[in-house]
Amino acid sequence: MIQKPKGTYDILGNESGEILYLKKLIESLMDKYNYKYYKTPTFESSELFHRGVGETTDIVNKETYDFKDRGNRDMTLRPEGTAGIVRCFIENKLYALGKPLKAWYLGSMFRYERPQAGRNREFMQFGVEAFGSNDPMLDAEVISIIVNLFKLLGLKGIKVNINSLGDRESRENYRKALLEYFKPYLNNLCDDCRNRYEKNPLRILDCKVDSKKEIMKNAPKLTDYLNEESKRHFEMVQKYLDSMDIEYVVNPNIVRGLDYYTHTVFEVEADIKNFGSQNVLGAGGRYDHLVETIGGPSTPGVGFAIGIERLLLALKAEGIDINEEKELDVYAFSTSSNEKPYLINTVNMLRMNGFNVEADFMDRNMKNNFKHADKLKAKFIIIIGSDEVENNIITIKNNTTKEEFKVKKDNIVEFLDSKMGDE
Ligand code: HAM
Repeated sequence: MIQKPKGTYDILGNESGEILYLKKLIESLMDKYNYKYYKTPTFESSELFHRGVGETTDIVNKETYDFKDRGNRDMTLRPEGTAGIVRCFIENKLYALGKPLKAWYLGSMFRYERPQAGRNREFMQFGVEAFGSNDPMLDAEVISIIVNLFKLLGLKGIKVNINSLGDRESRENYRKALLEYFKPYLNNLCDDCRNRYEKNPLRILDCKVDSKKEIMKNAPKLTDYLNEESKRHFEMVQKYLDSMDIEYVVNPNIVRGLDYYTHTVFEVEADIKNFGSQNVLGAGGRYDHLVETIGGPSTPGVGFAIGIERLLLALKAEGIDINEEKELDVYAFSTSSNEKPYLINTVNMLRMNGFNVEADFMDRNMKNNFKHADKLKAKFIIIIGSDEVENNIITIKNNTTKEEFKVKKDNIVEFLDSKMGDE
């Protein structure tokens, strides 16, 4: 039997109400913030992610799905959404439009990771990216989107961690300090970290192998290397969060697993008992040089992405049910095949007038049709026999009150509209 690939999952019809509800909520929230929906390809040139996400990150080094297409081009299934949106921003010259340009997206991302609860190889992210403004108020707005989405969903157990990685100058000073600090300990570090030492020493602090070692704990702290401008930016972000009454913790350990960040970075954790280790529901930050790195004009940016699967797990852990059941207005059947043209005509017309309608496709007998209508929780049942066809009428039964009516076919929409109003 062919099975789904490891780390992927199916969403079945009876549980899809959750994701559909979430999509609607996200869409309406994005309207409130004036973000526009963008869709970019699920695969891009491999070079985009190497340049964008960073050569020294685990995501690019160990986790990408790379393939050659039939034209022998190097392609990669996107491991995240930011690089693609930046490529789209540059390619479509969106920098010529009004600023800030605000984009949101929702779609599958792919990372070859070891699957476990909340960590999949194909997963869904909802993300936003805003381009063209240095204003720390925009960093605060972006963080407020995550917080408000979770609030609207009724999710209480969350913790917002923020940090600043500073601007280029601060980062460079810090890089030098790290090189000096780790030099005598090079032999105590793993192979990956020795490689990182040359290319990007900041990544050493993010190492999964060496993270518990004592030398890590005593390493220089980035906060001590922020220049005045970086400090001011970070203070303002906090001030704006305070004025929105958003609670947060300044956590100097947040360095993020992608290379493009400057200034503000943040991670929103599920602060829920026994939630499991994959507890970061959403994360992001500012990236003031990424557009340039990918080949566009110097343009600051800030954004985040939320892992939809982890968000759904968090909702479940807090007992919040968002699985909206769709209601069926009408179930319709005919007493023989002769009436099927009239049946499908009626069903089609009702659907085009806004009703949710199911028909009998299994040639059930009368008794089983009524049973099936109950199973589908249909509000009304339409029965079409030869009499109905001859007289151009419809027999319709209210499945709650069990009242039965004979209505002219031309009046059925009006009839249902008035009855639905009573419901
Ligand atoms: P990220 O931290 O790599 O950031 O991913 C964001 C979120 O995606 C994570 O917090 C997590 O909820 C979810 N996620 C990541 N990997 C997996 C996985 N294997 N399975 C399930 N969920 C996962 C980014 O991707 C950046 N592009 C965010 C960003 C946007 N920064 C600025 N703009």
